[in-house]
Amino acid sequence: MEIKDYIQPGVETLELNARAEKICRRRKVKPAFKGYRGYPKSLCVSVNEEIVHGIPSTRKLREGDMVSIDFGIKYDGYYGDAAITVPVGKIFPEALRLMQTTEEALMAGIAQVRVGNRLSDVSHAIQAVVEGQGFSVIRDFVGHGIGRSLHEDPQIPNYGPPGHGPFLQEGMTLAIEPMVSAGGWEIRVLEDGWTAVTKDGSLAAHFEHTVALTNDGVLILSKI
Ligand code: MF3
Ligand code: CO
Repeated sequence: MEIKDYIQPGVETLELNARAEKICRRRKVKPAFKGYRGYPKSLCVSVNEEIVHGIPSTRKLREGDMVSIDFGIKYDGYYGDAAITVPVGKIFPEALRLMQTTEEALMAGIAQVRVGNRLSDVSHAIQAVVEGQGFSVIRDFVGHGIGRSLHEDPQIPNYGPPGHGPFLQEGMTLAIEPMVSAGGWEIRVLEDGWTAVTKDGSLAAHFEHTVALTNDGVLILSKI
C-alpha cells in the first residue's frame, strides 16, 4: 500500500486520508468507504488500542504508535478491500510481535482457501496462529465475501472449529481480515459511533487481503 510510505511521526491521520483520495483520483477508482453507512472518510486509520474504523482526524502519529490503515475501492463495478498495520518509528518488540502474528494469521487463513475446504477451515487456521502466540481474536468483526458489493455473504469469523460452513468453490472472492488484540477480545465503540477499541486498552492489529479462488488456486488480488 502506497499510503504506508507516508506513515511517520508528526503526520496527521487526515493527511493519510488525503493521500488515499489522491491515489483514487490518479488511478480513476472510487473510494469504497466514503458514505458507506454514513462513514465520513475514505480511509480507516486505527491507532494502538483502536482496532478498526478509526476516523482520520488532526491527531498526529507519534513515534512508538502502531497504526492500522484499511482501504477499500470500487472499479468497474467491483470492490477491493485491504488493510495493514505498520509501526511508527521504533516500537516495542511486543507490538511488533502482535503485528507479525496478525499478518501470519492472515496468510495461514489464505492458505486454507482451496477447493474442497470449508469456510471455517480458514477461520480455524487464523485462530490457531493467533492463540498459539497468546493473543486474542476479535470476535465482533468478521471477514466477508466481496464483489459487486463491499460486503457480501458469507461472513468469515476469525475463530471457530474447522470443517463447518459452505464448501469453498472456484470463483469465490473473499476479504479475509483477522483483527487481533494483545489482551482480551472484548470491544467498545467510541462516542463517534465508529472507532472500535479494545475494552481493556490493549494494542490491536489488523491485516486484510481480498482473494479469489481460481482454477489455479488462491490469488491475492490486493497484493502490494
Ligand atoms: N474495511 C471494512 C471492512 O473490511 C469496512 C469499513 S466500513 C466503513 O469491512 F464504513 F468504514 F467503510
Ligand atoms: Co473488509
